Amino acid sequence: IVPEWPVDFATLEQRAEAAMPPSLLTYVQGGCGDELTQRRNASAYAHWGMVPRMMVDSAQRDLSADLFGTRLASPLFMTPIGVTGLCTADSHGDLAAAQAAAETGVPLCASTLANDPLEDVITAAGDTPALFQLYTPRDRELAASLVRRAEAAGYRAIVVTLDTWVTGWRPRDLNTANFPQLRGHVLANYFSDPVFRRLLARPPEEDRRAAVMTWAATFGQVLTWGDLPWLRSLTELPIVLKGLCHPDDALRAIDGGADAVYVSNHGGRQANGGIAAIDLLPDMAAAVAGRIPVWFDGGVRSGTDIVKAVALGADLVGVGRPYSYGLALGGAAGCAHVLRCLLAEADLLMAVNGWPTLAAVRDAGARRVEG
Ligand code: FNR
Repeated sequence: IVPEWPVDFATLEQRAEAAMPPSLLTYVQGGCGDELTQRRNASAYAHWGMVPRMMVDSAQRDLSADLFGTRLASPLFMTPIGVTGLCTADSHGDLAAAQAAAETGVPLCASTLANDPLEDVITAAGDTPALFQLYTPRDRELAASLVRRAEAAGYRAIVVTLDTWVTGWRPRDLNTANFPQLRGHVLANYFSDPVFRRLLARPPEEDRRAAVMTWAATFGQVLTWGDLPWLRSLTELPIVLKGLCHPDDALRAIDGGADAVYVSNHGGRQANGGIAAIDLLPDMAAAVAGRIPVWFDGGVRSGTDIVKAVALGADLVGVGRPYSYGLALGGAAGCAHVLRCLLAEADLLMAVNGWPTLAAVRDAGARRVEG
């Protein structure tokens, strides 16, 4: 933890507002519609309360969590953020986030949308396991190529994002036509892909515009449950379905052989008018009933939020915007600082609440309260 850097989210965001170029800040900070879902994601933690236990030896805590057979130091991971590459001044933010993963042991779920190829990103993550998030392209050969590259590179799971085959209604970005991809950013995984390059008349280095247009034309495959066997057939890796919000969908995911259910509303960037992600979690966890892991993200802004998510049934808890802000403030070190603050607060909360393990947190649960 670096003394000059903020230890709370509000100050972190303020500092990031000053540090980030306006178009990037708008893209990261914004959500869809009037951003009601996004605001709810963060504010809904207020109506979950936890009750401490005394006379329990919580002097030593074990926050370790399982990632498909690998022990992680904590349940925290970095969610895929498609503009991570742009969050550092050198435009290698994906590598910086991966370095922060290497330093802290907090895994990075690397987005398909990146400024550096997925092979380089995982190399920067060192010994910390990494996950690959797939935006499934319409071209199935291209989808297969991305998945196989991720498997060959050593990623531990394919996280398939289901809610973003088309971009949500984001007024802040629409007003300024603020989509970095359309300016040719964060497309390194495509431009480096042999199958993608075969779709082009001329390589991206020679005709970037045409390459971007091809990317846009092939971006979003509408997936249905019937596609799950196809996804399965592409890889031996665990498949995690990101963006599930309805308990019946969780059941279908289990029936279809998914390896984890990832509860998320994309940080309120895709569909407005929704329920806070944390409020979705209890019903989702009840539906899954421990058969496969439940991953979760949305509105995590503090260590307390992480503990609440575990109490409400999450096996792994993702944080998004805060680590982008950390990258903007101080690159890999800034990102690691943000992660360490989140974990330190979670650890301390468990200490004072008499919960030495995540199992104890889960047993304690959280109660819905007023305000
Ligand atoms: C995202 N998210 C996202 N999700 C994904 O599956 N692939 C992606 O490339 C992106 N890109 C992206 C960009 C930006 C700027 C943001 C803020 C978010 C969604 C992300 O993985 C996660 O679901 C939310 O960010 C979690 O919410 P919080 O922690 O930001 O509130």
